[in-house]
Parts: sequence; C-alpha cells; structure tokens
Amino acid sequence: MSTTPQTPFQILGEVGVRALCDSFYDIMDRLPEAAGIRALHAKDLAPMKEKLADYLIGWMGGPPRYAEKHGTVCMTEPHAPYHIGPVERDQWLLCMDKALQEIGASDELVHMLKVPMFRVADAVRNKSRPSSATTNPNIIAAG
Ligand code: HEM
Repeated sequence: MSTTPQTPFQILGEVGVRALCDSFYDIMDRLPEAAGIRALHAKDLAPMKEKLADYLIGWMGGPPRYAEKHGTVCMTEPHAPYHIGPVERDQWLLCMDKALQEIGASDELVHMLKVPMFRVADAVRNKSRPSSATTNPNIIAAG
C-alpha cells in the first residue's frame, strides 16, 4: 500500500532539494530577467546553493540542516543589507518556478509549493517599492 506524501521533502528527498537549489542558482546566473538579483550575490554561487538547500530541506519538512549549522532559521538578518522589494521577490520566484520545471517536479509538488513559496519569498521582502535602480529614471517624483 502506498501512502500519499504529506510534505515536499517526502517527494524530493535531500538529493532532490539539493538538485533544485543547484538549478535555482544556475538559472539565476543565466536568466536576463533575474540579472537584478544576480547582481546582489557574490560571484561564486556554490556556497549559496548549499545554504539555500540546507534551509529548504528543513522548511520542506525534512531535517533542520540550516538550524544545525547556523543555530537559527531567521532569514530577516541575512537579507537586511539588500533592497528586496516586489521586483526582487518576483525575480526570485521566477527562478524557483523555472528550477522546479528543470528538475521535472510533478504537478502535485508544484501545487503544494505555490502558496507557501510565495509567502516565504514575500516574508523576506523588506521594501514595499522597487529600488531606484529598477524604476523609470524619467519619473522624477513618484507619489
Ligand atoms: C525574495 C528575494 C530574495 C533575494 C533578492 C535574496 C537575496 C539574497 C542575497 C543577496 C543573499 C546573500 C548572498 C551572498 O552572501 O552572496 C541571500 C542569502 C540567503 N538567502 Fe536569500 N534572497 C531572497 C529570498 C530568499 C528566500 C525566500 C529564501 C529561503 C526560502 C532565501 C534564503 C537565503 C539563505 C539561506 C541565504 C544565506 C544566509 C546565510 O548567509 O546564512 N532567500 N539572499
């Protein structure tokens, strides 16, 4: 008798979450639409692949890898130095959507993650507006 998976981690396993995060940052690195958030990151994305996977393994219902290594799962502080508004959030989510496609995620998994992934990305957002770098330079005073 097979049981229905209750968590994304049960579907992906640790190897699958790591593959997702490898794809995520490879996509961020090459996708013109994600150039804005790529520029916020260091040149070498390998440490980020590992950290995001550590974080998502626990977040998806698996063992708390990030908490074991860093003693916290709070994402406010590591993101505080960066301007993360709706544009940056949506670029991040676009990379995640494409990474899920690239690893061949099932419709069930994509559906399971859709709302929670938006919520976690929106929780990392620390600005309500696009940065001046992404707003129209011809608009001098926007409301
Ligand atoms: C919403 C748009 C987001 C942007 C623009 C963004 C950007 C960044 C940047 C620039 C860093 C520092 C990278 C470096 O040191 O080179 C970082 C770190 C990190 N981000 Fe994000 N991030 C976003 C959302 C998220 C979300 C939703 C998660 C988790 C689900 C996440 C997980 C992490 C982790 C685990 C780190 C490493 C923290 C550490 O240093 O231990 N990020 N992020």
